[in-house]
Amino acid sequence: MDRSAFLRLSAAAAASVTLACARSSRNAHGAASGSARAGRKVLLVFFSRAGENYFHGGRKLLKVGNTEVASGFVRDALSCDVFEIQPVEPYSDRYDPTVERNVREQNENARPGIIDLPASIAAYDTVVIGSPIWNVRVPRIMLTFAEHFDFSGKTIYPFTTHAMSGLGHAVEEYEAACRGATIGKALAIQCEEAEKSRPEVEAWLRSIELLA
Ligand SMILES: Cc1cc2nc3c(=O)[nH]c(=O)nc-3n(C[C@H](O)[C@H](O)[C@H](O)COP(=O)(O)O)c2cc1C
Repeated sequence: MDRSAFLRLSAAAAASVTLACARSSRNAHGAASGSARAGRKVLLVFFSRAGENYFHGGRKLLKVGNTEVASGFVRDALSCDVFEIQPVEPYSDRYDPTVERNVREQNENARPGIIDLPASIAAYDTVVIGSPIWNVRVPRIMLTFAEHFDFSGKTIYPFTTHAMSGLGHAVEEYEAACRGATIGKALAIQCEEAEKSRPEVEAWLRSIELLA
């Protein structure tokens, strides 16, 4: 879908994201999960917005945002620490106002505030970072995170959930914003398929040798 098509779409619901650094070693069904390869210190970072969202050319109310769903599969597989990006000013749960705000933030090259940014990410050598694609780019709040830290010696693996834009400009944006980072292989997940994406996510994690 091109930019103008997205601008024509309207309305949606806000992100009630809870920010936390947490460890999980069990998946949603309580089964034992996988683990990151020995020696890798992985931080999963994601931003996701529940509420009214794009779905097969129409709209759907999402109780849990697509990127959060996919992030759950990463967390289950790696049992890694998780930082959920929570905006100081929450995004609307309606689609149109979110599109409008995002256009404004892109035009202004804004850096929306994040609640409780970690003091340091020095303990991690690998950052898996996920977000939706908004207007063919990552939400500006991802750049707030990306520009805040020194990623020297770290590898970043981006993933996106999207309608039609795939990774959009995510890789170039992280290359520019994450100083010192090596950007590894990225994954784009079709938004309507997010709930079924566990095998795709796990295959990607194996391909980048994070999952044994
Ligand atoms: C403000 C806004 C802009 C969007 N722009 C695009 C876009 O340019 N290309 C695309 O493929 N999908 C676009 N989408 C669809 C989202 O990328 C997709 O629904 C994603 O899975 C939402 O993730 P979330 O539920 O984790 O927030 C847009 C959605 C929103 C809310």
